[in-house]
Amino acid sequence: MSLYRNAIWFLNGIHQYTRKGYEAASKDFEPQDLDVSVVGRSFMITGANSGIGRATAMAIAKKGGTVHMVCRNKDKAEEARVDITSESGNMEVYIHIVDMSETRKVWEFAEAFKKQYPALNVLINNAGCMVHKRELNAEGLEKNFATNTMGVYILTQSLIPLLQKSRDPRVITVSSGGMLVQKLRVDDMQSEKGHFDAVMVYAQNKRQQVVLTQQWAKAHPVIHFSAMHPGWVDTPAVSTSMPQFHQMMEERLRSVEQGADTVVWLAVSRAAARTCGGQFFQDRMPVPAHLPLAWTHSSAEEIQSFMTQLETLARAI
Ligand SMILES: NC(=O)c1ccc[n+]([C@@H]2O[C@H](COP(=O)([O-])OP(=O)(O)OC[C@H]3O[C@@H](n4cnc5c(N)ncnc54)[C@H](OP(=O)(O)O)[C@@H]3O)[C@@H](O)[C@H]2O)c1
Repeated sequence: MSLYRNAIWFLNGIHQYTRKGYEAASKDFEPQDLDVSVVGRSFMITGANSGIGRATAMAIAKKGGTVHMVCRNKDKAEEARVDITSESGNMEVYIHIVDMSETRKVWEFAEAFKKQYPALNVLINNAGCMVHKRELNAEGLEKNFATNTMGVYILTQSLIPLLQKSRDPRVITVSSGGMLVQKLRVDDMQSEKGHFDAVMVYAQNKRQQVVLTQQWAKAHPVIHFSAMHPGWVDTPAVSTSMPQFHQMMEERLRSVEQGADTVVWLAVSRAAARTCGGQFFQDRMPVPAHLPLAWTHSSAEEIQSFMTQLETLARAI
């Protein structure tokens, strides 16, 4: 990956991904887009106890939606649930304890959810991680890949039949602008080759999410699929996984509500449902999933290989 491409990406980020970038973009927002009630609609949000996921859960609870918070830590989840119910006055907020890095358990949860609940209108794949050492989960999958890609793949694939039965179904995946510097690596999906650089491993997972979103949109046109970049947001993920970046950018980072804005817009607005499925969004607008002149495009064969490998791994589990 060239230094030149990284530099262009970073300069672009300073303009667009920061608090100022949000303030500039939000001048073109239609405020009435979010002026909707979602009473009677149900939303599953992974990683809903913190940061962007929690701000999304709060916004949706305030609009009357039923919220299913999927979290790995019971205490943190309960604390967030209490805050959300008391601030929104909405008691339809439920906790499900699932570690998204535990692949088989994700599948078991999704299968049980389908049996228990008659409908799910919106799935928000938000939970994400950047683990700095190469570690494996119980199934032998690299932890970042297991959480960011396999967890999203298994949860979504398992819930597609339930979403398809529900009215105006949507799937939103919180990816990252960091994926713009990565091309899908079909011959090394779990970062086994070369030096293990967690930032690049994370960015590769985020590219995998964007490709998955495009493929799902083609395969299941009844469901509105989208991926998005929240901008650079002040959350525990950034301060713990990228402390230097956090320190350098602190003043310029977005609030969690600003980061969650496009997630909420994609989840509830009528305007979002009118956009083409499978796109990558930033600040309520579809944006290119590649930098200009970037070598990050994949061939149809590479994409097919990626999808086949995911399906093979999922079936093995
Ligand atoms: N912040 C940014 O600038 C930025 C930029 C681009 C993309 N994103 C993406 O935004 C999403 C939300 O992150 P955030 O910035 O809001 O960070 P955050 O506040 O740290 O939230 C991350 C959430 O994911 C959960 N999570 C992580 N690993 C999990 C696992 N194995 N199982 C279940 N839940 C798990 C965390 O749970 P715990 O609280 O238990 O750890 C937490 O609830 C992530 O996908 C991230 O990649 C963020």
